Formats: sequence, structure tokens, C-alpha cells
Amino acid sequence: MSEDAQLLLAAAELAREQAYAPYSHLFVGAAVMGSKGKMYAGCNVENASYGLSICAERAAIFAAITAGERRIQGLAVVSSAGEPSMPCGACRQVIQEFAASPEMPVALAGAKGAMVELTLAELFPYPFALP
Ligand code: THU
Repeated sequence: MSEDAQLLLAAAELAREQAYAPYSHLFVGAAVMGSKGKMYAGCNVENASYGLSICAERAAIFAAITAGERRIQGLAVVSSAGEPSMPCGACRQVIQEFAASPEMPVALAGAKGAMVELTLAELFPYPFALP
């Protein structure tokens, strides 16, 4: 595992501690790395009106964008589920919007210690793009 992936996983794990998930009880943390190596984290935040909930991945990316970043060069997601949990379809499209390249590394970890490393192209091979 690369040093960046280790740093991102550690940041995602810390963010997961802040997850607000009283409905699903799935606690997720994510972290992205901006173009100069700075990291931004996010957690899932649920709502009694379930559809208003936001995933950890989008929370982390939106924090990066708010800080002025436009290209992310790495992503890690840590979930409380036993096995690593995969980013949902909506998050994949948002990751795609800001990823520095299709080869961007994505590290996914579960609570039992298993870890999966993929490129964005493997995770999301046919993204939507405007014609
Ligand atoms: N969730 C994430 O944070 N990331 C994903 O990629 C999938 C799902 C959250 C949303 C919701 O709070 C909970 O997991 C159950 O869907």
C-alpha cells in the first residue's frame, strides 16, 4: 500500500468516528487528497427524512471543493461493515467529476481489516460525460 493510501485510510478512519448514522447504523468515513497533498475528510450524515442523507465520500469531496481544490489524487473509504463497502453510484459520478485521472487510486477498508485497492477506472468504467 502506498504512503498516501495509508494516510488517507487513517484520516477516513478518524472521520468515521464522527459519522451520524442512527438509522442505518452503517458508519462510514472518507478522505480525499487534493492536488498539493492536503487531505479532506467527511463522514455520512443521515436524516429522519432518509433521502436527505449524505454519503461520506461526497461529504469529503465537497469539503475539498469548498477549500478551493478542483482535482483529487486519491480517495479512501472506511466503513463499519465487516467487508469493505463500495462507493454508491451517485458518489462514483461525483468522484469522477473531480478525479485527477482515471488511474486515481481508491482504497476501501472494512472493519474486519480487509482492504481493497482499485483505480477509479476499475470502480467506474463507464462514467456519464456530457457530449
Ligand atoms: N453510505 C456512504 O456513506 N457511502 C457509500 O458509498 C454508501 C452508503 C452511507 C449512506 C447512509 O448513511 C448509509 O451509508 C447506509 O446507506
